[in-house]
Amino acid sequence: MKFFIDTANLDQITEAQALGVLDGVTTNPSLMAKEGVTGEKNIIKHYKDICNIVEGDVSAEVISVDFKGMVREGKELAALHPQIVVKIPMIEDGIKALKYFSDSGVKTNCTLVFSSGQALIAAKAGATYVSPFIGRLDDNSTDGLDLIGDIRLLYDNYAFETQILAASIRHTMHIVNCAKIGADVMTGPLSAIKGLLNHPLTDIGLAKFLADHKKGN
Ligand code: G3P
Repeated sequence: MKFFIDTANLDQITEAQALGVLDGVTTNPSLMAKEGVTGEKNIIKHYKDICNIVEGDVSAEVISVDFKGMVREGKELAALHPQIVVKIPMIEDGIKALKYFSDSGVKTNCTLVFSSGQALIAAKAGATYVSPFIGRLDDNSTDGLDLIGDIRLLYDNYAFETQILAASIRHTMHIVNCAKIGADVMTGPLSAIKGLLNHPLTDIGLAKFLADHKKGN
């Protein structure tokens, strides 16, 4: 499973990259605004900065909600850097834009996916990635992990190449469970990624190894 970090925070992206296990970055307009990145010039510079930190795919979201606008914006974003993946919302014109970019060889990430039907039509349109938001489903008393399993089944039935990018990851066990179910990618916060390192028995065991080594010297 690929590990993406879901943030526009350059320090966190740098820290995740330094771990050596990072495969890419996802951003969205909310995450950009959270870092105070506003205005076209600053947004463009920020995407380039992110691409210079990581080696993998970097999702950059369009703001337009009509086909022509999404195509125009997506082309501009894709031209910024070869690592840019154009992130497109799951709406009718978005499906048309996904097909357009798929036919033009531009990588896409279909975002705001909350059902297996949405994931199916995104794959038919040739999306490179589809982003089911599992945390937001959990917030609404619906098991987000079930959706990952359903999409895995649909895609495997027909050998769709669209990658399942589990998004809206909230904690470490989301990552582990997505890996069990067979998500191709997960995108989550640095805290959830670093949570994978934790176990108290590791800390206790290491403290004992070091103490015993000290005794013997
Ligand atoms: O990648 C999508 C993600 O940013 C949404 O996460 O935590 O806002 O539901 P969240």
